[in-house]
Amino acid sequence: MAERVKFPIRIALLGCGTVGGGVIRLMEDNAAYLASRVGAELCIRHVLVRDAERDRVPECRREWLTTDPEVVLGDPEIDLVVEVIGGADPARSYLERAIDAGKGVVTANKLLLAQHGPELVRRAGRAGVDLAFEASVGGGVPVIRTLREALTSDWVRSVHAILNGTCNYVLTRMRDDGVSFDDAVKEAQRLGYAEADPSLDVDGHDAAQKLVVLSMLAFGADVPVSGVKVEGIGQVDQLDFRFAARFGYTIKHLAIGHDHGERIELRVHPAMIPRGSVLANIDGVLNATLIQGRALGPCLLVGRGAGDMPTAVSVVADIVDVARSRMEGEPGLSTRGIQLNQRPLLPHDEVQARYYLRFDVADEPGVLGHISTALGAHGVSIEQMMQEGRAEEVGSAVPVLIITHGATEGRVTAAMQAVAGHGFMKAPPRLIRIEDV
Ligand code: NAP
Ligand code: HSE
Repeated sequence: MAERVKFPIRIALLGCGTVGGGVIRLMEDNAAYLASRVGAELCIRHVLVRDAERDRVPECRREWLTTDPEVVLGDPEIDLVVEVIGGADPARSYLERAIDAGKGVVTANKLLLAQHGPELVRRAGRAGVDLAFEASVGGGVPVIRTLREALTSDWVRSVHAILNGTCNYVLTRMRDDGVSFDDAVKEAQRLGYAEADPSLDVDGHDAAQKLVVLSMLAFGADVPVSGVKVEGIGQVDQLDFRFAARFGYTIKHLAIGHDHGERIELRVHPAMIPRGSVLANIDGVLNATLIQGRALGPCLLVGRGAGDMPTAVSVVADIVDVARSRMEGEPGLSTRGIQLNQRPLLPHDEVQARYYLRFDVADEPGVLGHISTALGAHGVSIEQMMQEGRAEEVGSAVPVLIITHGATEGRVTAAMQAVAGHGFMKAPPRLIRIEDV
């Protein structure tokens, strides 16, 4: 057990970009209030960055800045280390060193947690310190706390979530304002929503990392991020939005987790959801997590999922919690309460859903017959089919849209592969899963 700390609580911040800048602003703006909540002043002592000459938020004092990790991690007076650098390394080694030195740690780093979360949780448990990570999922939405504390008495059956603010922002701008994919991504970068490498957002990996972190708390699961089925939003275009609306759906990038008892199912992909769904109007940078508890039933958490100040709210709330637990002389309790077991994953081919299928084909006799025959041969039943317009010139493509009845993904993808080789196909066939959430 770490010894009772002396006042004030001394904090080292690793990183001062979008999130770090927000953390400093919030701590400065609310300094007196936070001190009264903690029972001690929260004092920033060091801010580690790569470039000490760069412009920072005005609240960041020059004397805090350093580019030398030794100055920060070697300071024995620091009580609490806050990591908002991002990426795997050196963030991991810095956090490990802080934990081993008995400091409380706070991180917003879902990539690191998805890769090494269970090890870090166990390490913090052994060291008797807190590892808090509210900001790693959902930005300012308190989803980690809700799962870890409020729902600790129940079993979570499933999670359906919009976890990437950038994807949700881009899809909303494309659908509502006809903005191009590339322009919408640039806007999200400008607004501070995107990762340093925005392909992590739009290719679905950021949401997959967050889903793995949620699974730790929702399902007690220690699972590799490589076990998550991941698809991004790069393939979704205006035509899909138009036909989604015609069929009564909207398109969202969803992270989905199901506890099937023995096995769990984890996937991240664009999904068509009914326009009446509670998730259908979660637009722009908003995130939402719909939890189904066995005893509780549904519980929906909504809020801003990215950006400096919403994320800072979660980071600073963690700082307050970790500081308080040090003040009480009982650090590490909440981290030791996280129980993790390796859980087998449902193979993706066995996932059961309905599907929107799109075949961009030559406008020729017999094409519909080929497609429906291939689906039938693989046991996939068609619920609705639509072909609209004629190709403007010979050889150009017309879209054939199909909504299937429920089928396993293995059967549907086998049918699509059987069609893909035909000369009438003008582009690879595409699939968007339908979630009746
Ligand atoms: P960012 O704007 O790129 O800031 C990263 C900061 O870390 C910069 O200050 C940078 O220094 C510093 N840094 C990077 N590598 C470093 C190194 N090797 N040594 C020392 N300093 C280093 O990133 P961010 O958007 O704030 O994100 C930070 C973390 O929060 C990530 O894990 C991200 O996934 C997570 N997160 C972000 C959001 C969001 O909305 N942006 C929301 C939730 C969680 P310089 O400034 O000198 O370059
Ligand atoms: N890049 C992330 C997003 C930041 O867009 O959701 C929040 O984790």
